[in-house]
Amino acid sequence: MRFEIVTLFPELFDVLDLGLLGKAKDAGTIEVATITPRDFTHDKHRTVDDGPYGGGSGMVLMPGPFAAALDHFDAQRRGAPTRRVLLTPPGVPFSQSHARRFSRLDTMTLVCGRYEGFDERIRSWVDEEVSLGDFVLLGGETAAVAVIEATARLLPGVLGNDQSAADESHAEGLLEYPQYTRPEVFRGQGVPEVLRSGNHAAIARWRRKESLRRTLARRPDLLESAVLSEEDRALLDEIARER
Ligand SMILES: C[S@@+](CC[C@H](N)C(=O)[O-])C[C@H]1O[C@@H](n2cnc3c(N)ncnc32)[C@H](O)[C@@H]1O
Repeated sequence: MRFEIVTLFPELFDVLDLGLLGKAKDAGTIEVATITPRDFTHDKHRTVDDGPYGGGSGMVLMPGPFAAALDHFDAQRRGAPTRRVLLTPPGVPFSQSHARRFSRLDTMTLVCGRYEGFDERIRSWVDEEVSLGDFVLLGGETAAVAVIEATARLLPGVLGNDQSAADESHAEGLLEYPQYTRPEVFRGQGVPEVLRSGNHAAIARWRRKESLRRTLARRPDLLESAVLSEEDRALLDEIARER
């Protein structure tokens, strides 16, 4: 999958050279292409922003350099399709379902803002707006890295074990069950007996129950849309009786 990024700070994407995403790049599973709108300016200061019409504080990103950067990527792809995503605080909150949807694309183009944000016309050239959460960052780059990581790790071959992506939080609309590794006892805290029992059916049942328990305690809203079996409902009743 190809990730195209329009950014004033391409260096911030060097983090994608590390760890599993670095390996995915080396293997050719993902390709990361950055471009800076400054390369499409015509003054000696390489200006990409200007004061807002109507007055007010802060600087607004000008449409011209962003349009040229997007055109450049289109030309590189020779018209092959992409999905353009603008990173903005008023965007739809990014979630695992976005990541799943994006991971089915061949190419996506992430557009990162800075300063007071984008000239409104830039919004009309993208397919959707995504927010990392209800807070304001200095720029869209951190949000774009999060989107790329969450998307790329769902691509076949990126995680060592594809089951890891299937089992974890949000994969099925529930939060992940508690995990333990060695040692068996650490600072007085032990590992639940069932996990050492070797009884795979009992382990699966315990994990499902703890996943439901954690979701109920921390994110009860997720249970409303999760697909629950009869057994899940029985486990939830059990949890309610234990409270
Ligand atoms: C300082 S912010 C601009 C905020 C803008 N004035 C507003 O009130 O919506 C600069 C850029 O950072 C990015 N950004 C900031 N917070 C973000 C968030 N929560 N999610 C995604 N991108 C964000 C956007 O690309 C934005 O254009």
